[in-house]
Amino acid sequence: MRDINIRDFKLVCGAMSWVSNPSLVAAVSNAKLPEGNGNGRALGVLATGAMKPDELNEAIGQIKQKTSNTYGVNLIGMSPYYDELVEVCANHQVPIIVLAATVPRREKIEQIKATGAKCIGFATSLRIAQDMVKNGIDGIIIEGSEAGGHVGSIATIVLMQEILFHLSNEVPIIVAGGIGSGKMIQHCLKMGASGVQLGTRFVCAVESPMHETAKEFYIKKQAKDTVVVGAIDPVFSVIPVRVIRNKAVDDFYAKQREAIRAMNAGEVDAHGAQMMIESFWSGSLRRGVLEGDLEYGSLMAGQSISFVDSKQTVQEIVETLYNQMVW
Ligand SMILES: Cc1cc2nc3c(=O)[nH]c(=O)nc-3n(C[C@H](O)[C@H](O)[C@H](O)COP(=O)(O)O)c2cc1C
Repeated sequence: MRDINIRDFKLVCGAMSWVSNPSLVAAVSNAKLPEGNGNGRALGVLATGAMKPDELNEAIGQIKQKTSNTYGVNLIGMSPYYDELVEVCANHQVPIIVLAATVPRREKIEQIKATGAKCIGFATSLRIAQDMVKNGIDGIIIEGSEAGGHVGSIATIVLMQEILFHLSNEVPIIVAGGIGSGKMIQHCLKMGASGVQLGTRFVCAVESPMHETAKEFYIKKQAKDTVVVGAIDPVFSVIPVRVIRNKAVDDFYAKQREAIRAMNAGEVDAHGAQMMIESFWSGSLRRGVLEGDLEYGSLMAGQSISFVDSKQTVQEIVETLYNQMVW
């Protein structure tokens, strides 16, 4: 089970908080990729967001009931339960761990590999990628700013030239961000990617737990309807997020303007102002994607939303993508 080659996974469904639950993960890992088009396998990755260890334990148990194929678990580097979550993964012999929201340092990579799992991390520059290779990483995801969810500022096409073209022979590199068609997948593979990671293309899958109202809303949206929401003043630290523009986005900017006003008026200090805006999105992704609150929820989505035009099963999505390839 654990004799795993990351290069086998041509199509990864990236972890999506609240969306990548055991059903979606298992459906992706169970999907059969049509033969002939680059072959390979699909990989589902569990999102753990703010999960506590017992919740992760239960979620992994559910995945194992639904599939005997390889799956991954996405761990957030700054989780307060990080070490305990790694231990849960170790107990379950999780085959692949994706380390997110952190630059994976040597100790963290070694800690994960000591559980027997393969360790995949995100790189945002060639130097960081090279350090990760030196530190023993098993695979690297490069994710451009077209992607849904938390994003950096560099586009996929630039990351490919900077990182993929230099390191694809040394380490498996998975390209993510803005990919929504089979033809693009095919081109990424031809350019040296070991696989691709898609998120947005799977949010409206039948097996996705997203609220039906939100699925219908996503299906109508296009790339131009997404925006990157970040800080309006460098005094605040806000990790930029790509979402579908809605009332919450406008309210967030108003909240920041109010925090700046309060700070300048001496009503709150810089920390207080930061707290005012930090609490804004708390619980909002759940409200958006699980409860279908289209106005005030966070509706994370990438520019590849343009390619989401119907509700399909995971197997149908995979087949649609593969049928678009011409080898
Ligand atoms: C709703 C949503 C939630 C996401 N949550 C996470 C997450 O918890 N951890 C993570 O590493 N990436 C997260 N991502 C990023 C995806 O795993 C994936 O890399 C990205 O969606 C790929 O780009 P695409 O949206 O253009 O397909 C999220 C993306 C979306 C759309």
